[in-house]
Amino acid sequence: MKPKFKSIETRYMEQRQEFFDGLKNLDRRSFLKVSAAAAGAAVAAGLTTCSFQSVSVAQDAGSSGADTAFRFAYISDSHLYEKNTNDRFVRSILRAVEDINNLDPQPDFVFYGGDLAQLGQPSQLELGAQIIRNVKAPLKMMVGEHDWYFDLGQKWRSLFGEPTYSWDHKGIHFVTLNSVVEKDFWTKRGLTPMERMMTVAGLDNGVQSPFSVGQAQREWLKNDLAGYPDDSSIIVFSHSPLYKLYKNWNFWTDDAEEVQAILKRFNRVVVIHGHTHQLLTNRIGNIHFHGMLSTAWPWPYAPEGMPKLTIEMNRPDPFNPNDGCGDGEVHVKADGLVDKVYNLWNRKPITIGRAYTASWGAEAVPPKPNLASY
Ligand SMILES: [Fe+2]
Ligand SMILES: [Fe+2]
Repeated sequence: MKPKFKSIETRYMEQRQEFFDGLKNLDRRSFLKVSAAAAGAAVAAGLTTCSFQSVSVAQDAGSSGADTAFRFAYISDSHLYEKNTNDRFVRSILRAVEDINNLDPQPDFVFYGGDLAQLGQPSQLELGAQIIRNVKAPLKMMVGEHDWYFDLGQKWRSLFGEPTYSWDHKGIHFVTLNSVVEKDFWTKRGLTPMERMMTVAGLDNGVQSPFSVGQAQREWLKNDLAGYPDDSSIIVFSHSPLYKLYKNWNFWTDDAEEVQAILKRFNRVVVIHGHTHQLLTNRIGNIHFHGMLSTAWPWPYAPEGMPKLTIEMNRPDPFNPNDGCGDGEVHVKADGLVDKVYNLWNRKPITIGRAYTASWGAEAVPPKPNLASY
């Protein structure tokens, strides 16, 4: 006999199961159903304080003369657990995909900034692949350390191909690097794949080696750029920032200066990175850097080494699990520099315009976030 009443917990677990069952074989039609259900559930549970705020495409204000050439969208750092463990992060990436699919016109492509999985498990990467492949625009993928150190990239490669590649799009040369290469700290210690993964996932445990791009990729980069004259527009994607921010948390790329040296001959270079889960802006010589938001959680700012150009986002509200999370857009201008839009899901979007980094922060200063810090 069926029980007359179901407890809140039972109903919750049933709905949750239904949600995850819907994630199997996620074609476009079932994606819409599942993501709509996820959004509804998130609002009902009070997980968001407002709906997605559409971001208007900045037509150029006229000061620098160049029109908006094109835009792409990004999603980063979703840190998907086994689906039986955590459904909040699944709902977050679903929302980001759906928000971006609703952009009109569609971006030229969607870039994923790494850390799709939390602990590099094949099932976590497969779940992420199922979801992220539902973006309507062409998809480009980058690897993060959480995707890599369980099987040293075996599963990630089988899903997404090689992690280092480049392409040209509308006059811009794009490069994607694997910047989370670590020296072998595991063989001597006799670590299992999971122990290796857990070590890398603990950013400040002091056992792992710092991230690097490494000799082989630096050679590849030099060759890749060889045919491009100095006035070419170059946009580089890296997971960790290609500069040294805070070593104790691995907000750091150990051979950053050597990579910067390869990029030095170009007049303008933009580097866009994930990993730090926060709004970060930097400029070193000819290179303009932008950090990406996470769909999972915001990291606090590092206690030292913060780039001067950074307009700090407010510290997130610990009682709102989506505060400090978001996705974004990059408007690539004809001069190769970018306007970077940070779309914090429950706040007004923040644009860091190219005039700001081009003038070393003297002009076009973005407004400071105006909500309270926690
Ligand atoms: Fe991350
Ligand atoms: Fe990361």
